[in-house]
Amino acid sequence: MKTIEDGQLVLIIWRGRRYLKRIALDQSFHGKGGMLRYSELVGKPYGIRINEYDIFEPTIEDIVMYGLKRETQIVFPKESFYIAFRLSLKKGSRVLEVGTGSGANTFILSHAVGPEGRVVSYEQEERHFRNAKRNIERFCEWDNVELHNEEFTGYNGEEFDAAFIDVREPWAILDKVRDAVKRSAPIGMILPTANQVSDVLKTLEENGYGDTEVLEILMRKYKTVSERVRPTDRMIAHTGYLVFTRKLDITSPSSGA
Ligand SMILES: C[S@@+](CC[C@H](N)C(=O)[O-])C[C@H]1O[C@@H](n2cnc3c(N)ncnc32)[C@H](O)[C@@H]1O
Repeated sequence: MKTIEDGQLVLIIWRGRRYLKRIALDQSFHGKGGMLRYSELVGKPYGIRINEYDIFEPTIEDIVMYGLKRETQIVFPKESFYIAFRLSLKKGSRVLEVGTGSGANTFILSHAVGPEGRVVSYEQEERHFRNAKRNIERFCEWDNVELHNEEFTGYNGEEFDAAFIDVREPWAILDKVRDAVKRSAPIGMILPTANQVSDVLKTLEENGYGDTEVLEILMRKYKTVSERVRPTDRMIAHTGYLVFTRKLDITSPSSGA
């Protein structure tokens, strides 16, 4: 049975409000449900109720939503988990990311490729790079993320299995991203406006890409009262459009290449 120890993360829920905290023996949590000494939790299992607080082991989603410090718009879990799936990431994959931002999507990519995988991520703004680095150091389970504080202008190392772009003008760097990935590799993008989608499609139509798809993910949550099951009154109506494409060489390579 896994028990709560000094330095570990806990998710504290009080009447639906969630707090992600790291246990420090000499500190306490002060919330509307009263004070909770972290030393009281040490040695106890996760999944317990103490006073008015429910204590859980944080999920990956909890860490993204309540742990990472946000200094930019982030890719939310409803998209990032699907992105990792669509990029076909698995243990040992190598993935390129342009636009680290706060590192929320980087965190999911890191988790998807596992300890033998590699995430190489570019962020041009120093303050965002610093914040993302801190988030990655605090929360990533494995040392598999390589952060670059520079504008992405291309990559000369080993080709990537997949790539993801979250920048305002992806069409400006698409050819460089395409050069950095293996033939047939999936390339994903997230874009907040339809105008951007239209602009990126113009680039994708030129050549060198195939199997292009545009989609969005809507998530409607439900109230959990058994006698009155119905959607919650409010929902997040829009986060971004997802564009997926794949590297395609129109001139066929000689057989075996
Ligand atoms: C919306 S944020 C990315 C958020 C990130 N995906 C997350 O989940 O936290 C976009 C970031 O891309 C960075 N950026 C824009 N163009 C870039 C480029 N050409 N090279 C590297 N970083 C770039 C911006 O500075 C900004 O921090």
